[in-house]
Amino acid sequence: MSCNTMQDISIQTNENGNTSLQFKTSQRYLLLPIEDTGDELQTELFVDDKLVNSYVIRLAKNKIDYWVPLDLSQWQGKAIKIEIPGLNESAVCLKEIKLSNNFDFDFDEKYRPAYHFTPPYGWMNDPNGMVYYGGEYHLFYQYNPYGTRWQNMSWGHAVSTDLTHWQHLPVALYPDSLGTIFSGSAVVDETNSAGFQTGGEKTLLAFYTQAERGGQWQSLAYSNDKGRTWTKYAGNPVLKKANTPDFRDPKVFWYAPANKWIMVLAVGNHAEIYSSANAKEWTFESGFGANYGSHDGVWECPDLLQFGEKWVLLISNDRVANVRHSATQYFVGSFDGHTFTCDFSPTEQHWLDYGKDHYATVSWANAPDDRKIVLAWMSNWQYANDVPTKNFRSAMALPRYLTLAQENGKYLVKSYPVEEIQARRGKAGNVPDFNTNRIFDVPTNGIFEILLEIEAQAAQQFGFNLKNSKNESVEFAFDLQKNEFSVDRAKSGIVNFNATFATKSVAPVLAKPAHTLRVFVDKSSVEAFLDGGEAAITNLVFPNEPYKQIEFFTKDNQFKINDLKIFKIE
Ligand code: FRU
Repeated sequence: MSCNTMQDISIQTNENGNTSLQFKTSQRYLLLPIEDTGDELQTELFVDDKLVNSYVIRLAKNKIDYWVPLDLSQWQGKAIKIEIPGLNESAVCLKEIKLSNNFDFDFDEKYRPAYHFTPPYGWMNDPNGMVYYGGEYHLFYQYNPYGTRWQNMSWGHAVSTDLTHWQHLPVALYPDSLGTIFSGSAVVDETNSAGFQTGGEKTLLAFYTQAERGGQWQSLAYSNDKGRTWTKYAGNPVLKKANTPDFRDPKVFWYAPANKWIMVLAVGNHAEIYSSANAKEWTFESGFGANYGSHDGVWECPDLLQFGEKWVLLISNDRVANVRHSATQYFVGSFDGHTFTCDFSPTEQHWLDYGKDHYATVSWANAPDDRKIVLAWMSNWQYANDVPTKNFRSAMALPRYLTLAQENGKYLVKSYPVEEIQARRGKAGNVPDFNTNRIFDVPTNGIFEILLEIEAQAAQQFGFNLKNSKNESVEFAFDLQKNEFSVDRAKSGIVNFNATFATKSVAPVLAKPAHTLRVFVDKSSVEAFLDGGEAAITNLVFPNEPYKQIEFFTKDNQFKINDLKIFKIE
C-alpha cells in the first residue's frame, strides 16, 4: 500500500497488479493523467461502496500525454473508490493523479480551429440530436470525456444562436446499464405526444442508440428545461430487433400528413423506417437500399429530408472503397409516410462532399424557415484517432444548407456554408492587381476565407497552391479535360501519422464559362465550395506553420482571374 498523502488519496495495489484508489473530498475534480496510446483500462467507480459507473480510461503507465478531469461535484464528502485492474504500482499516473478545484490545459493548442466547433477537450465524432428551440441551435455530439480517442460514448452538448459561436454545456447523456450512448437525433414534441411535458416549455425528445456487448437498440430521453437536463425514459429501450448487430443512429421527424413520428435507422446494409404516435411504441414500415448506392461498409447516420415534392435520404457510408473511405451519399426520391422510393438507378452513387473529412452528415430539426441545415464530423475513421492534436480530437465541418437542384436533367444536392458565417468576415485583404500578379499574401494566422472567380480561357490545367515558408502546400487544381477539380494535401505538412492521409481528393466539375470557388481555411482544415456548392471538398491539413501565400499556376495556357477576395475570419 502507498499513499498519495498530499492529496489524501490512498492507493492500494495488490500482487495481481490491480490498483484501487480511495478518498473523500470536497474538491471538484480528480485529474487523471492519460497516455494517449496506453492500454485501455476498465475503470470502475464506486460511491459509498455502490458501483456508479465504469469507464475505459488509458491511465498513464509510462508517460503522461495530457490530463482529463473526472467531475466529482455530485459526490462531495462521500467515500469514493476507483478500481483499476491491470495497473500496478510502477504506473506514472499513480504518482501524479490529483484532486483539484481547477482543470487547466492549453485550450489554444496549435491545430485548434478558430471558427469550427470543437469539444473543449476529449474525443468527438458524429453530430447528434441537433434541434432548434427557443432561439438556440442545440448541438450534441459523440463524446469521450476521458480521453482523446474513441471510447465511452456519451452525448456532449453545446448551444449557439448563430451557428458559428458555441457555448459549451455539461455532458447531456452518459452511458448506463443499457450501454453507451451512440448517435441519434432530437425533436421538439409540439403536441406533447409522448406526455412528458410538465410546464410551459415544450418537451425536447432525444432518440439514441445504446450499444452494449455487440447489441444495439434505441432509447429515448426527454428534457423540459430547454435541453439543460435530460431524463432517460423508464421504459428504455423503445426499439429492439433480434439478431441485428448494426441497428443504429435513429433520425426522427414529425410526419404531419399522418400525425405520426417517423424514425429512420441504419441497419447494416440498408435503412429501415419505423413510425409511432407517441414516440415510445414503434412499428416497422419498410426498408430501403440493400441494392442501392455504395455498400463497401455498413450504412450509418441516415437522415430523410423533404424538398417540396421530393425527399432526400442521406446515408453515411464507412469504408467506401475509394480514396474517401468515410463519406456521405445521398438518394433522391419520394416518401409517402411508409416507404422511400428512389428516383436513381440502383447503381448510381452520389456524394455530398468529395473530400476525406466530411462524415455523419445530419440536419437540424425545427430550423427556422424550414432551412435544411446540416452538420458533419470533419474527420475520417481511417485516421481520426491518430491526428496530431493533443487535448481534443476532431472538429465539426462548417454548418451548410442543402438545396435540391437539377443540372442537365439530373438531381443534384448542393451544399453551401450558412449565411451566418459571413458575419465573421474581417476586412477584405488588399489584393493587388490580380490580372498581372500570380502570388498573393493571406493572413498569416491560418484563419481566412478566399473568394475566387476564375475563367479558364484557353487553359485546361490550372489552379493555385496555398503555401507556407516551409515548402508545405495544398494544391487546388482544375483539370477541365477531365471535368475535375481536386484538392491535393500530399505535401500539406504533417501527413505521416497515418499512411492513408496524404491523398488527393477529386470532385466533378460542370462545364461553365467561369468557375467560382470559396475556400475556408481554419488552421487545420480546408473546405472548398465549387460553383455555389455544386461540389465540395473538405480536408484536414496539419501544416507546420500557417499557410501564408496563394500562388496560381497553369500547366498549359493562361487563364483569367475575374475576382479575388481574401477575408480574415474573426
Ligand atoms: C458513425 C458512427 C455511428 C455510431 C457512432 C458511434 O461515425 O459509427 O454509426 O452511432 O459513430 O460513435
